Amino acid sequence: MYGAKEDSGTVSNFGMVTPKAKSMTKNLNKELYGSELFHVWSQKKGLLEEEAYMIHKYLVHKDARVLEAGTGGGRIIFEIEALGFTNLHAFDYVEKMIEYCDRVKAENSSPVDFAVADATDLNRYPSHSFDVLVYLQQVLCFIDEPLVDRALEEAYRLGAKDSVYLFSFLNWHSKFYNPILSGIVNLFRKIRGEKVAKHKLPWLMIDGRFNWKLLQGTQPGNYWYKKSQIRQMLAAASFKVIEMKTAGEILGGGKTDKGHVYVACSKR
Ligand SMILES: C[S@@+](CC[C@H](N)C(=O)[O-])C[C@H]1O[C@@H](n2cnc3c(N)ncnc32)[C@H](O)[C@@H]1O
Repeated sequence: MYGAKEDSGTVSNFGMVTPKAKSMTKNLNKELYGSELFHVWSQKKGLLEEEAYMIHKYLVHKDARVLEAGTGGGRIIFEIEALGFTNLHAFDYVEKMIEYCDRVKAENSSPVDFAVADATDLNRYPSHSFDVLVYLQQVLCFIDEPLVDRALEEAYRLGAKDSVYLFSFLNWHSKFYNPILSGIVNLFRKIRGEKVAKHKLPWLMIDGRFNWKLLQGTQPGNYWYKKSQIRQMLAAASFKVIEMKTAGEILGGGKTDKGHVYVACSKR
């Protein structure tokens, strides 16, 4: 087997969708990362303790072919490089992020192969070409529910036979106010005649500032998952869960609902 600071302040917050609605949601998050959030996420360095736990435990063989999804400023993939891995690939759908990564790569003569790509369409990578696939922080939680299955299908396709996957998801139970916020947001959605989505919440804070537009329509959203939903979704995509823990469970100290849900998987 081959084996950011949780964004609690910034993203306190993952039917058939019409192509218009689909692109609107995706682009709004993408726009945020190319504008207000570019600086925040391109400058982050180091690993969170819970990320380090997953990475040290599951990235075992230094010759593993590693792919990181939604790399942002390359924080995680550069940390993986520092551990001695050399066959490294990473993508992000925000061009500006990849341009930034390529500049850092040039400065440090890094071997990471960076690309602009969307997690829902990874045609640029051949099937079965990676041993470890890292989808940490909010990547899957930005993708609308019918499309997130497509992203998981793509991830599955890219993994070699004994590959390992590290996923993380926003944790519905990590914020006591999620059910209340969801009730209010969905009431407004109903009034506007929009689709109700219990677990899809607008950003509460953007770059440390309260999002006063959160009750307006056409808001970028995030999906917040319960462990049972994650299990279901991963099983439907043919993944086998090896380990599933919240950041709180990884760190100990009794706050078991704290932080994202971290999952290590293999292919069935
Ligand atoms: C919360 S940031 C995490 C960045 C980096 N992984 C880290 O932890 O420092 C999420 C990143 O995922 C990217 N992203 C979100 N959805 C994506 C998608 N469907 N395809 C590719 N990149 C995506 C965003 O552009 C952003 O750079």
